Amino acid sequence: MPDAAPAAAASRLAFFEDLHPSTSDFRADVLEGLTKPQKAIAPKYFYDAEGSAIFDRITEADEYYITRTELALLDRIGPELAKMAGPGAVVMEPGAGSSVKIRKLIDALDAPAGYAGMDISGEHVRAACEALAADHPDLTVGAVCHDFTRPIDLDALPLPPALSEGCRIVFFPGSTIGNFELIDALALLKTLRGWLRENDALLIGADLRKSGEVLEAAYDDAGRATADFNFNLLTRINRELGGDLDPEGFEYVAHWNPYRSRVEMYLQAVRDMDFTVSGRRFNIRAEETIHTENSHKFTVDTFQDLARRAGLVPRAHWTDEARAFSTHWLVRGPEA
Ligand code: AVJ
Repeated sequence: MPDAAPAAAASRLAFFEDLHPSTSDFRADVLEGLTKPQKAIAPKYFYDAEGSAIFDRITEADEYYITRTELALLDRIGPELAKMAGPGAVVMEPGAGSSVKIRKLIDALDAPAGYAGMDISGEHVRAACEALAADHPDLTVGAVCHDFTRPIDLDALPLPPALSEGCRIVFFPGSTIGNFELIDALALLKTLRGWLRENDALLIGADLRKSGEVLEAAYDDAGRATADFNFNLLTRINRELGGDLDPEGFEYVAHWNPYRSRVEMYLQAVRDMDFTVSGRRFNIRAEETIHTENSHKFTVDTFQDLARRAGLVPRAHWTDEARAFSTHWLVRGPEA
């Protein structure tokens, strides 16, 4: 028996495609975002290698109920998912991250044939997919470095054609959909709908509305993982874009906005500051904020309405007993 050396594990990856957005996107987006009346940076820029690792710390924080609730839910509904998907399913996961959840899904499914993990952090997704491939010798596993808000031609991925037989499951857990303004969430759902053929499904997680106290604690944990996640953005700008932002001049703030049903996250200046990014001069006043993220919270109904507007038809949904989180099986309906 050949022993499973790390090098052998690495070679099990069927493909690695690098469609990574360039540093010039990061630069252009940051410069534009810092010029707006409400300074803002898109949350996708949290996820460099360091940020992805800090995010994994968030998922382990006591206050952050989302990950453990969704994992338990996936455990519980596994047999139903297997039945709905049938044998030989192929899973595609935009924003795959560290692949904890995909393991639950792969283990639950009936002889899944393939998996393609996609993530904006190339090294993170590659390592996670290599580990998954090593643990599942019968699964064809590929990794793609890609920003899922950008178009991608799935048929151009070097997935073996034999894999097109089974049900394709587009897996979008974590309530990542909640990071988008509703209009952008709608557009993204339409994009993901475009990945589905007849009988395929979008298996998607949507976090549910709950008390502001619970939500604000979840997004401002006492262990400061979420705060570090935000401060890493400043460090990343300084390193990659030649910035001189002083992290000590900022405080992290999470605020539940019930009217827009979302947690809003900010880096707030504690004093007036001048700073430079990529040779451009900026200025921030005391108490002015840089908006870093929204995390929208849904009800089952508001989420299903959004899905229907994107041309997706709800076939099944599940929630945990406390109704903290929901998982939805959506299929392709007529184009919206
Ligand atoms: C990746 C969207 C699931 O909104 O809960 C967690 C990101 N940001 N804590 C979320 C996040 C701060 C997270 N999702």
